[in-house]
Amino acid sequence: MSDTPVPPGDLLAAAKTAHHNAYAPYSKFHVGAALRAESGKIYAGANIENASYGLGRCAEQSAVQAMASAGERAFSEIVVYTTAAEPASPCGACRQVLYEFAESAAVYLVNDRGVVRSWTVGGLLPGGFRL
Ligand code: THU
Repeated sequence: MSDTPVPPGDLLAAAKTAHHNAYAPYSKFHVGAALRAESGKIYAGANIENASYGLGRCAEQSAVQAMASAGERAFSEIVVYTTAAEPASPCGACRQVLYEFAESAAVYLVNDRGVVRSWTVGGLLPGGFRL
């Protein structure tokens, strides 16, 4: 028996597809994220960099923006996919963006070698900010 967490297959596939669409000419670090919104619909996004580096957008934020732009306001789980040896861990800013819409959502950090780390959003950002 293994206690490796298993990411939902449909989200993993969507995150993997999204990572192929990453625009990361500066870092060359391609990330895809896919989440399941309250409606059951899947929204995905990739990291989109910019020549003005600070304007780059992480994959997690792209996925949340896609969800919220479609009028949805909550999600239950998210998969973040990279080909790095250690799965990418969401940056601090992304943790707060995820927290806005889903404190208790499951977060699966996955790579192409089958390494999976799992968290909840609240576990990644204890005491996140709310107005
Ligand atoms: N990146 C993400 O998209 N998500 C993460 O979880 C970690 C980092 C992006 C930002 C930047 O485009 C590139 O990866 C290198 O930091």
